[in-house]
Amino acid sequence: MRSLTKYRRPLFFTGAGLSVESGIPTYRGAGGIWEEYDYTDYACQRAFDANPERVWDFHDVRREAVAACEPNEGHRLIAELENARIITQNIDGLHQRAGASDVIELHGSLGRVRCGGEVVENFEVPLRERRHSSGRYWRPDIVWFEDMLDPLVMQEAVRALEECDVIVSVGTSGVVYPAADLPRIAMRRGIPSIEINPEETAVSAWYTHSLRGTASEFLPTLLA
Ligand code: OAD
Repeated sequence: MRSLTKYRRPLFFTGAGLSVESGIPTYRGAGGIWEEYDYTDYACQRAFDANPERVWDFHDVRREAVAACEPNEGHRLIAELENARIITQNIDGLHQRAGASDVIELHGSLGRVRCGGEVVENFEVPLRERRHSSGRYWRPDIVWFEDMLDPLVMQEAVRALEECDVIVSVGTSGVVYPAADLPRIAMRRGIPSIEINPEETAVSAWYTHSLRGTASEFLPTLLA
């Protein structure tokens, strides 16, 4: 396999597995967030409408966990690769903290809150004011279960997928749609596609190369 440095426009499609080595748990599998918490109580609009304080308590814990950790070598290597673009399902902001500038966040960010049409960056841990000056609650700017993806973000992602000449998926189980389907837009053009994951996933068969191992096992070699 060619080094990724030989491509003109590499695209990384990343998921929770990339942040494992920073100390952030995945969503599924042993120790996964959704094994411990029922999303219907913590991660959907209905839960927020019913009990915003409980939903904020949960997100404050997650914001705290992210604030306490650092980007890992995988994030850094990807950030250093020239012309690389990133489409991430992660909401932890670690790509940006590693120095990446071209990051499309499909599922929003723990570091932003919104209320009505207003969206603001906010990294306070815990969030000091849960309510907007209007009296309504701020809401994490995250795509929760049952939410639609932002059409402008989708548009940007599709453009990146149409322009790349290699796609590398790192650390995603490929079970959350529509995100899971997106890499196929790039694959349809017959470009090389690489999956890095210690386990076989629901979408492994789509990839031209499946590398069974962790991000830190494979990214340093691929990016050498
Ligand atoms: P998952 O938790 O579903 O999957 C994480 C994947 O990472 C699994 O396939 C693991 O095998 C793999 N993995 C574990 N350790 C790894 C390592 N060191 N290196 C590489 N891979 C490793 O996470 P996602 O696919 O990202 O939504 O989940 C997709 C969406 O579901 C998330 O964006 C989240 C969740 O609900 C929101 O937060 C809105």
